[in-house]
Amino acid sequence: MTEITGTRHFRKQELSVREEEFIEITRDILEHPEFLKLKNYRHHLYQTRYQHCLNVAWYTYVTCKRAGLNYVSAARGALLHDFYLYDHNNDEAPMEGSHFAVHPQVALMTAEKYFVVDPVMKDCILYHMWPSTPKRPRTREGFIVTLADKYAASVEVGSVPYRRLKALLKGSPA
Ligand SMILES: [Fe+2]
Ligand SMILES: [Fe+2]
Repeated sequence: MTEITGTRHFRKQELSVREEEFIEITRDILEHPEFLKLKNYRHHLYQTRYQHCLNVAWYTYVTCKRAGLNYVSAARGALLHDFYLYDHNNDEAPMEGSHFAVHPQVALMTAEKYFVVDPVMKDCILYHMWPSTPKRPRTREGFIVTLADKYAASVEVGSVPYRRLKALLKGSPA
């Protein structure tokens, strides 16, 4: 399994305890040939979109499990929240509109094409950009995905200066 990117709290302690259950819940998605294509797309500079989705799903799973929520649907919805197979940085887009508004809809359509998507998963995928988009999630699981997504983004982007400095010290380009 690709290692989770995150704080020591998420990465070390929780991973060893609950990794097996998490993989059991998400294995069909993680290993699906279409979902694996997310490894071909860069996300937040140094991550792949696959890694980003995995990070968000893990944080969501841990948080929802602790809170006694529907952690199965939440983890699966979180994993599929950015399941879109195009690069918006190259002006690729299947629909009119801003990337913020469009990509959750595309992710939902792609998810429904390959997997069964229940209402909680749908909520997690469709409204994950809130509050950057006006409609907020209707479920607590969906709300946790919005937080996990922002947390993942801050960790992923926050690692960029560190990686650049490390590359600089090694004398190779970042
Ligand atoms: Fe997104
Ligand atoms: Fe995301």
